[in-house]
Amino acid sequence: MAHVSELIAEDIEAYLHAHQHKSLLRFLTCGSVDDGKSTLIGRLLYDSKMIFEDQLAALEADSKKVGTQGGEIDFALLVDGLAAEREQGITIDVAYRFFSTDKRKFIVADTPGHEQYTRNMVTGASTADAAVILIDARKGVLTQTRRHSYLVSLLGIRHVVLAINKMDLVDWSQDRFDEIVGAYSAFADQIGISAFTAIPMSALRGDNITEPSANSPWYSGPPLMRWLEDAPVEDDLREKPFRMPVQWVNRPNHDFRGFAGMVSSGVIRPGDRIKALPSGRESTVERIVTLGGDLPEAVAGQSVTLTLADEIDVSRGDVLAAAGSPPAVADQFEATIVWFDDEAMLPGRPYLMKLGARTVAAQVAEPKYKVYVNTLEHLAARRLELNEIGVCNLLLDAPIAFDPYAENHDLGGFILIDRISNRTVGAGLLHFALRRSQNIHWQALDVDKAARAASKGQKARVVWLTGLSGAGKSTIANLVEKRLAVEGRHTYLLDGDNVRHGLNKDLGFTEADRVENIRRVAEVAKLMVDAGLIVLVSFISPFRAERQMARELMGEREFVEVFIDTPLAEAEKRDVKGLYKKARAGELKNFTGVDSPYEPPEDPEIRIDTTRLSAAEAAERIFDWLEGGAFDPGI
Ligand code: ADX
Repeated sequence: MAHVSELIAEDIEAYLHAHQHKSLLRFLTCGSVDDGKSTLIGRLLYDSKMIFEDQLAALEADSKKVGTQGGEIDFALLVDGLAAEREQGITIDVAYRFFSTDKRKFIVADTPGHEQYTRNMVTGASTADAAVILIDARKGVLTQTRRHSYLVSLLGIRHVVLAINKMDLVDWSQDRFDEIVGAYSAFADQIGISAFTAIPMSALRGDNITEPSANSPWYSGPPLMRWLEDAPVEDDLREKPFRMPVQWVNRPNHDFRGFAGMVSSGVIRPGDRIKALPSGRESTVERIVTLGGDLPEAVAGQSVTLTLADEIDVSRGDVLAAAGSPPAVADQFEATIVWFDDEAMLPGRPYLMKLGARTVAAQVAEPKYKVYVNTLEHLAARRLELNEIGVCNLLLDAPIAFDPYAENHDLGGFILIDRISNRTVGAGLLHFALRRSQNIHWQALDVDKAARAASKGQKARVVWLTGLSGAGKSTIANLVEKRLAVEGRHTYLLDGDNVRHGLNKDLGFTEADRVENIRRVAEVAKLMVDAGLIVLVSFISPFRAERQMARELMGEREFVEVFIDTPLAEAEKRDVKGLYKKARAGELKNFTGVDSPYEPPEDPEIRIDTTRLSAAEAAERIFDWLEGGAFDPGI
């Protein structure tokens, strides 16, 4: 292998030219810290001469000082050292390291972090062509190995190396190697990894990394670096139909309107017919604009700006696609979901789904099953916990353009974001659209919400009372309804205890059941608002996410959140139903405020401090708030 830095020094032009025309392999390393992942990556960087001289000197010094290798170079220090540097800035979950040989450039996604490995792996794997799965020869195939491999297969990575490391610690035993390969083959078959290359190695000593090792005369396959240099890189993306998610609409002045994004598959040329989705409007590509000038064509992986012949409506998050073979548009799907948040996935809770450049609100239905990775069994599940993988239906707020993940990773892969904390809580792969979503259409009715409310001479609204059990919600709601009735308003009162006798009889007080409780009552309230009523809702509704969902179901200014603010100690002192006593005695589980959380509203329309106002005064205040313009149709 030519010494890269010599070529850089002697003939920079030749170096750059050769470098530019080399193919690029993106790969992922998976393994636990102890499997020698850092050492392997450090070794690859070292052997490809991508370590700068000063780093090398520091590495040698550090190895003597704190290394675990008795004075020899400890390659793990190199990678971990880089990680420490990186962490001084912002913490990134996945570190992408770059190295190159004469033949090829490489980007390796190093996924550090023990607990969060699923999240890191999914992030790193989504763009990888190949995966190196590390195994400690002494330990063999572990649960982690199975999990990593399952994810690798799920994410569609087709080129897999089983790096059986630390062979020096098992005396280069061919029997041990064969035994591990045998155990792994059986599992690989089951999960659809049809072929893999097993390499016996010692990353620490450098055996079978760049050169075949004399320690394994029985092994005739390639060393790791050669395998990486020869692994086929997928370029069939080019053969697939054209797709480009629109990242942003570039409109510097009235004469120019371009749609910028990265081509995710196919080829596009001026003159090609395209379809914008989800609108379905068609046009023709006029120009392919880049900073370096217009292009005659753009292919998968290129970032460009397209201008169109017609003024069609395209916004950020839409997809431009080949008019002849556009992706489907739907709002209900089946998908595989990988959950990676400490807080479990709750069916019915609204999350944000980000797919391509589009973000929409999405609810996940109860899992059809989850996969027990060790045996690949399908198990029944009501929710998904940290690191669990399940198959679920998804319901979106708005239709999106998509392809099945198996056909297009960009248009079929998505992440789920918690709306309150903004954390990425899961990732998913779309399978197909549910047919029912295509066969059910919204029926437009002639008598609408406004007409129904107008005939009652009022503005329909939801007055949503939230607060602890015993805070006084129902008492106050009852008084407000009486007061409204005096004015001749048409109302209805939905009360938690009452609704739980009928519609929600099947629900208890787990987090998941409370989410479903509120989802249903919010939908019912929405129907009642549609009927033109003023609806009083009196539920503990302890979670912000569900109250926000209820708010978003209603129209602008239709949702009035009333926080019945009674401190826990006060509610407990009153203990009208004797439930706090039971909860404290351990006879009632998941009781709000005792062993189940209550998330107070941050910005309610009305806050009632019941330690200062009587129920009658509170009701009067709510009534006044509503009356102060609430019935003015202009508001
Ligand atoms: S919510 O949390 O799902 O919104 P909801 O308002 O429907 O609760 O029901 C609360 C009422 O159920 C309480 O007022 C109380 O009478 C009763 N209840 C019984 N068990 C519990 C519990 N574990 N936590 C809270 N309320 C309970």
